[in-house]
Amino acid sequence: GAPMARRHLVRAAVGVAAAATSLVVAAPATATSGAGSPGLGDPYFPLAGNGGYDVRHYSLDLDYVRATNFLDASTTITARATQDLRRFNLDLRGFTVSRVTVNRLPATFTRDGQELVVTPRVPLRRGKTFVVKVEYKGEPTEVIDPDGSSEGWVPTADGAFVVNEPQGSPGWYPANDNPRDKATYDMAITVPKGITAIGNGRLLSKRDRGGKTTWRWYEDSPMAPYLATATNGVFELRVSKAGRIPLYHAVDPAEVAEGAFDRLAAEAEIIAFFSDLYGPYPFSSGGGVVDHAPEVGYALESQTKSQYDSTPSAGTVVHEISHQWFGNSVSLTVWPDIWLNEGFASFSEWIYDERHGGPTAQASFDQVYARPATSSIWTRPPTNVGGPQFMFSGTVYDRGAATLQALRVKVGDRTFFRILREWYADNRNGNVTTADFVRLAEKRSGQQLDAFFDTWLYQPAKPTTW
Ligand code: ARG
Ligand code: ZN
Repeated sequence: GAPMARRHLVRAAVGVAAAATSLVVAAPATATSGAGSPGLGDPYFPLAGNGGYDVRHYSLDLDYVRATNFLDASTTITARATQDLRRFNLDLRGFTVSRVTVNRLPATFTRDGQELVVTPRVPLRRGKTFVVKVEYKGEPTEVIDPDGSSEGWVPTADGAFVVNEPQGSPGWYPANDNPRDKATYDMAITVPKGITAIGNGRLLSKRDRGGKTTWRWYEDSPMAPYLATATNGVFELRVSKAGRIPLYHAVDPAEVAEGAFDRLAAEAEIIAFFSDLYGPYPFSSGGGVVDHAPEVGYALESQTKSQYDSTPSAGTVVHEISHQWFGNSVSLTVWPDIWLNEGFASFSEWIYDERHGGPTAQASFDQVYARPATSSIWTRPPTNVGGPQFMFSGTVYDRGAATLQALRVKVGDRTFFRILREWYADNRNGNVTTADFVRLAEKRSGQQLDAFFDTWLYQPAKPTTW
């Protein structure tokens, strides 16, 4: 086997304002200085993302060799300046940057933590589209999250498992790393022959040259940077269809015997089910990757290609597929609203079970509700978990899902499912907040729901009446 290169770990800085609940967004830096701000002021990750421009498209060119854990890459970003820019930032961790150009002219750049600060030769005018190309190489930086979990470019025995929620992307490509700035992506991933590389979207081509294979993928729907993937390794790849949508299923040989392909095969029916319930599947392709990386310890709904660190349970597949609607197409605006992803995906598991002869969503609710008042799902409200180290804690999933079931009972099935359909239809490819959801629920139900949502989402106590 390949010699295991030492993993390059970095402890990601946690925002100083981590505990702040304020959703105030940092003003774009001083218009007079012409500098784009280094962050977008997310309460959990203030430096994630940058101000002053809007990315339209990423073109990633990645060449990775696992034996040396070395990535030789260039990323080309097409963006539009939203203010006059004398300089601007991208998020990138580690690597040696050899060259940056803006509109094909060499630009000067400096590094400062996760910030790559670029000064173009010719300042950028507000409203103009520009192209920045960053050439970089080195060992990818695996990011350790505030909760101790690993993400980013995580080396495996034969490749890498690539997952980035919430802040792994700058560990392998320069990005405006904020879910508010969605863009389309194309990727050319070059790996040693015999290795399969899986990006987002549809497979455009696969070409062998000089002992290497280049896999080209294209995602044509706007995508938040954290949902990008380039997982690679020894995989069996099977292509099928859900209606007209191509599905790509890649399974590590170690997981084939665990029944991984059968689990993934359920995807076509799950897509049909949620398409009926919520509205048409958001993207032009789908699929999933089952790798063998159990040390990662979680799955992720990477756009069009859910990532599983090992053979998932049937419920986990349902969960990740539902995120394509809620999380990926309808995206949060700030990370403290993570329940809009996880609560909706967990409720989706409940309703899927209910409509497939399993326990009713109310029975699932009852199980959650039976937890004692001292449980952290009650003491930590979903919209204020107490910091980014708790952003994937049980309250976000279970109390988030319970909130939706409680709403269902309160407004009735007809209104409730109308709300969910409208939530998706109105916000497809967009960004939302909890306040937006409350507003929609009130509008559709004709009820005043402030007290209801306050009890379920904001109070550090077990709801008793609602
Ligand atoms: N969104 C994932 C899910 O489907 C969880 C991601 C957890 N990420 C992490 N860095 N621990 O539930
Ligand atoms: Zn989830």
